[in-house]
Amino acid sequence: MTKQNDNPRAKTVLITGASSGIGLALYKQYVDLGYQVVTCGRDKETLARLTPLATQWLAFDVNDINAVANAAEQVVHIDILILNAGTCLYIDNAKQFDGNRFREVINTNLLAMGALLENFLPKVPAGGQLALVSSSATIFPFSRAEAYGASKAGVDYLANSLRIDLAKEHIDVCLIHPGFIKTPLTDKNNFAMPFLLTAEQAAERIFQGIKRRKHYLHFPKRLTLLLKLIAFLPQSLGNSLLNKDSNT
Ligand SMILES: NC(=O)c1ccc[n+]([C@@H]2O[C@H](COP(=O)([O-])OP(=O)(O)OC[C@H]3O[C@@H](n4cnc5c(N)ncnc54)[C@H](OP(=O)(O)O)[C@@H]3O)[C@@H](O)[C@H]2O)c1
Repeated sequence: MTKQNDNPRAKTVLITGASSGIGLALYKQYVDLGYQVVTCGRDKETLARLTPLATQWLAFDVNDINAVANAAEQVVHIDILILNAGTCLYIDNAKQFDGNRFREVINTNLLAMGALLENFLPKVPAGGQLALVSSSATIFPFSRAEAYGASKAGVDYLANSLRIDLAKEHIDVCLIHPGFIKTPLTDKNNFAMPFLLTAEQAAERIFQGIKRRKHYLHFPKRLTLLLKLIAFLPQSLGNSLLNKDSNT
């Protein structure tokens, strides 16, 4: 059993996607509790302005393999690695499938994880933690979410598989399924988002779950449990409840 150091001041948390939404709220949560936080986003000035108390600002595009490698060279040690950066673009017309959109979402949300893991995971010692932010959209398929849902379903498998293989390295892996959270990502949505939480509420749940070394977090439970229940039904019945415009 690896000895844990529970002094927050001795712990470093690296958060991708820390310039907005859930990642920014996580930065605030960890900084307020005395952790050393490394924040990542694409623009250094934005990171400096929004996350002034971070110990390091790392500006890079997760899709730029060389930039990811250069950023990782600037980090010595990470106790908690939170891969949260992501995007959401919808496939508005399935028949005239937008392959570029699909690629963009899969690249950012899933393929980029490869370079992030390759370069940042070696900095996480035994006793450390890895958290991957997926989505409750993977519990049941949603209309127009072909790209987003597929990317996050890949993240689910990645996290669950990594958990098996990193156990022998004494690194815990946490898969996170947020429901609807009010952030710039969802501000673009023009449909009803039941049980919407604030980014601060999401960050508090993620913080507490990671602290307890949970392997799976899903919230708000009134949404995720409902989705899990609907996922037991035949898809046609589930669609009539959740995807009213669907023909299946
Ligand atoms: N909001 C929700 O309801 C919800 C629900 C389930 C899951 N999630 C997941 O939660 C995570 C955070 O989402 P959010 O709602 O907080 O979104 P957000 O407010 O739009 O923030 C997205 C973050 O990801 C970063 N990012 C996006 N593309 C990037 C790229 N190519 N390279 C580097 N950084 C990039 C952004 O940095 P820049 O400043 O560089 O743009 C930003 O910091 C995402 O993985 C999302 O899929 C969100």
